[in-house]
Amino acid sequence: MPLILTRANVMSVLTMKDCMTVVEKAFLELVNGTAELPLRTAIKPPDGISLYMPAYLRESGALACKIVTVYKNNPSKYNIPTTIGTVLLQDPDNGKVICIMDGGYLTAVRTGAVSGIATQYLARKSPSMTAGIFGAGVQAKMQLWAMAEARPLVKAMVYDIYPESALKFSTEMEAKLGIQVEVSSNPEALLACDILCLATSSASPLFDGKLVKPGTHINGIGSHTPNAREMDTALVKRSKFVGDSRQACFAEAGDIIIPVSEGAITDQHYYADLGEIIKGIKAARVGAEEITIFKSNGLAIQDVATAKLVYEKALAAGIGQTIEI
Ligand SMILES: NC(=O)c1ccc[n+]([C@@H]2O[C@H](COP(=O)([O-])OP(=O)(O)OC[C@H]3O[C@@H](n4cnc5c(N)ncnc54)[C@H](O)[C@@H]3O)[C@@H](O)[C@H]2O)c1
Repeated sequence: MPLILTRANVMSVLTMKDCMTVVEKAFLELVNGTAELPLRTAIKPPDGISLYMPAYLRESGALACKIVTVYKNNPSKYNIPTTIGTVLLQDPDNGKVICIMDGGYLTAVRTGAVSGIATQYLARKSPSMTAGIFGAGVQAKMQLWAMAEARPLVKAMVYDIYPESALKFSTEMEAKLGIQVEVSSNPEALLACDILCLATSSASPLFDGKLVKPGTHINGIGSHTPNAREMDTALVKRSKFVGDSRQACFAEAGDIIIPVSEGAITDQHYYADLGEIIKGIKAARVGAEEITIFKSNGLAIQDVATAKLVYEKALAAGIGQTIEI
């Protein structure tokens, strides 16, 4: 009988730190060849996009499929989030679905987790650091949480085209993390920060990439189609570009597809997959002046690893409901 886990159930057992541990292991499985990760299938109804994301991690014994939808008008039209997901976790030995869980919070945490891991490997190290967060939505909160796990943050700044969203974000995240979260009305003010997270629903660049200071690390998680991007050509050209997956980046990420199509860079500019950095096949940051980019498209291995973690924690805590299908 499958276990049913609500969003509240998932929230009660899932921490960023634990999620970063299992997601890092999943990226190692990907580079080691023990992960199966078909490219996600996308269907495009008029108002949004519906993605089907299966994966299998042999070493971790995790098999699952997530259905995730991204509908930009959801908050204004229906008062529900832009991104909604549900995960079906299976027993890899017999294929049975053993758990159906809400995937919305899980998606946000695993998306934060991969940025956190990339930041651990690629950002400069300093005893006190600052993070600039673009966007004040669901994902942005998890980005900041992950930055606070990855580096000793003393302050964050947030910018959103809706100042009231940024203010809400600031109040909530100051209480959660115990650091100052300053609301800015000027996106370029955030470029003073050591680490930037781009977590918006924008389809066009968020700032002039020529203004980014040397040594900055950037996590770009927002745009996810070939003609949408949060980073401009100037920024990508100046940076060491790491992605979650080369295949996913060249299929989905306008952030790199557009500069290549413009002829500003070649596809050789794509430096490494995150797994190659984690495994040490490719060097991470070289020197304090380098600008590093991590582009996240969101891979099903992140969901599968996190879903197994949540399932095991829920079983141990005795939460959720079982039903006969
Ligand atoms: N990489 C991944 O794995 C992954 C996973 C989930 C979602 N996403 C993407 O992340 C993005 C954010 O998702 P969400 O669920 O937080 O959405 P959301 O709607 O909750 O938040 C997006 C925020 O961005 C703000 N925004 C839009 N344009 C902006 C701009 N130019 N400057 C600053 N802020 C701006 C909006 O006002 C909104 O507050 C979406 O594009 C989504 O597709 C990526």
